[in-house]
Amino acid sequence: MKKLKVMSIFGTRPEAIKMAPLVKKLEEAEKIESIVCVTAQHREMLDMVLEIFDIKPDYDLNLMKHGQTISDITVRVLKGLEEVLIDAKPDVVLVHGDTSTTFVGALAAFYQKIKVGHVEAGLRSGNIYSPYPEEMNRRLAGTLANFHFAPTEGNYKNLIAAGISSDEIYITGNTVIDALLQVVKEDYRFEDDLLNQINYEEKRVLLMTCHRRENWGTPMENIFKAVKEVAEKNPEVEVIFPVHMNPSIRQLAQEILGGNEKIYLIEPMEYEAFANLISKVDIIITDSGGIQEEAPVFGKPILVVRTETERPEAVEAGTVKVVGVDKAEIVKEVNLLLTDQSAYDKMANAVNPYGDGKASERIVEVLLNYFASLN
Ligand code: UD1
Ligand code: UDP
Repeated sequence: MKKLKVMSIFGTRPEAIKMAPLVKKLEEAEKIESIVCVTAQHREMLDMVLEIFDIKPDYDLNLMKHGQTISDITVRVLKGLEEVLIDAKPDVVLVHGDTSTTFVGALAAFYQKIKVGHVEAGLRSGNIYSPYPEEMNRRLAGTLANFHFAPTEGNYKNLIAAGISSDEIYITGNTVIDALLQVVKEDYRFEDDLLNQINYEEKRVLLMTCHRRENWGTPMENIFKAVKEVAEKNPEVEVIFPVHMNPSIRQLAQEILGGNEKIYLIEPMEYEAFANLISKVDIIITDSGGIQEEAPVFGKPILVVRTETERPEAVEAGTVKVVGVDKAEIVKEVNLLLTDQSAYDKMANAVNPYGDGKASERIVEVLLNYFASLN
């Protein structure tokens, strides 16, 4: 009997992490032929995830170029996927989230009249320039999609407000929780001994990441300077910063934070190590999307160095605070958590508004039901 051909298309680190558990479930489903196509919008950071989850792509467009612009990647993904889709002829394409690969993957599938499933659908900040270009990417992917896999009730409502028909929307939870639960272990030991040697009991350990395009320039300088000030003024503070591979971010991080013996500027961490590190540190400072979904599971206060978030669930739960990109404000908020135990405890709630680890299963079920209705 003919199987349903499902092609998962992804290209960056966060998409790979969040698609990996779904790819595994697709592979297990007898009635599905799972095909993986990576654009490799990211190269090293993508490969690290593929290795951890043991995913071997059927197609690898190998597109990353250093210093690529949004237009570069858009054009190359569109052209590269055309050939792949004509060759593989999937029944359904799955894209994830809000990157250039996501939007262009959905567009390329539409051009071939192939149905599109959008995983992590319905997130909205309300501002098309923040996050940039992700807010527009997710809106465009939503317009192109036939199946919308919304992590939360709030995401469902956003899709309804965007004019999507309710019978195309499925509330599934976020596949990031599926991924997280697979890699976190109580007795985890890091391969990088530096991370084993840090005294997590006695020190106040800050974990930071920063990469968003709208933060490039002055906002990112402010963020880095704020963290530097906090580290210099508080003897008990140590900072771990796995620096994104974007060359301009690496240069600025080196310029402002390099050479400080309490600030560890390290390479991007493999996912298993990073997820386990979240569970050990005291405070997280980030502009990342995915980390806002993961850290609440461990009850770690997260200061989001952005002016908005499309993840209001963890803000409502009290674990995430959006603190903006002003240096003095960031220093004030970190100091509050360092000095006021009740302020810290109030944010250190273990909550998980993003799912029960079964999002991938639900998505596969939707696809199988669709398949059954075709036969
Ligand atoms: C991209 C996504 C963003 C996502 C982020 C996750 C777009 C427009 N942006 O941003 O939505 O949040 O990924 O991290 O889709 N690089 C490497 N090796 C890697 C990865 C990146 O060297 O493994 C360097 C390259 O020089 C590359 C640059 O980083 O040109 C930027 O990568 P790109 O994917 O264009 O943008 P990101 O800022 O990573
Ligand atoms: N992450 C990782 N190694 C790191 C930093 C982050 O594996 O050194 C993971 C993190 O746990 C989360 C994802 O990468 O799942 C977030 O990716 P990123 O911040 O690049 O993108 P965003 O989520 O902002 O789109």
